[in-house]
Amino acid sequence: MTEEFLSSSPEETRQQAREFAAGLHSGDIVALSGQLGAGKTEFMRGITEFFNCDDQLSSPTFPLFNIYEGTIEGEEVTLHHFDLYRIQSLHELEAIGFEEYLSSAFLSVVEWAEKFPEYASLYTATVELEHTGEESRRIVINRNAR
Ligand SMILES: Nc1ncnc2c1ncn2[C@@H]1O[C@H](COP(=O)(O)OP(=O)(O)O)[C@@H](O)[C@H]1O
Ligand SMILES: [Mg+2]
Repeated sequence: MTEEFLSSSPEETRQQAREFAAGLHSGDIVALSGQLGAGKTEFMRGITEFFNCDDQLSSPTFPLFNIYEGTIEGEEVTLHHFDLYRIQSLHELEAIGFEEYLSSAFLSVVEWAEKFPEYASLYTATVELEHTGEESRRIVINRNAR
C-alpha cells in the first residue's frame, strides 16, 4: 500500500510523521530514505513526539545510533534510531549489532536504510522523502506485508 503526501514545512512533516506513527505496531522496523536535508531526521522527530519521548536528538551517540524511551497508551516503549550515513561496510554494521538492535525495540527507525539492501526484507514500512522545493517535500509511505 502506497500513500503520498506533500509537506510545505518542517512542522507539516512532523505532523505527517505523528499520524504515520499512530498506525505503527510493536516490532515495526521503518526505513527512512532520501537525500541529505530531505527531512528524515525531522520525520523521526515527529515519531518521537507521538511516543512522548524526551528530546535526545543531540545526544553524544547521535547521529549513528540513539535510544529513546517513550510511552504509548500509558505503556513504556523503547525506540531504536539509526542513521547509517557514515557507515561504510556491512561488516561495520554487523559489528555494532545492527540486526539485534532492530528486533529488540518496540519500534526501530533507520535513516539511509537503502545503503544496505541486504537488510531490505526486515523493514515493515518505508518512508521516502524528496526535496521538491525550498520548504516543500514529497513523502511517500509504503507499508510492507509482514
Ligand atoms: N517540509 C519540510 N520537511 C522537513 N524538513 C524541512 C522542510 N522544509 C524545510 N526543512 C528543513 O530541511 C532540513 C531537513 O533536515 P533533516 O531532517 O536533518 O534531513 P535529513 O535527516 O534527511 O538529512 C531541516 O533543516 C528542516 O528545517
Ligand atoms: Mg538525518
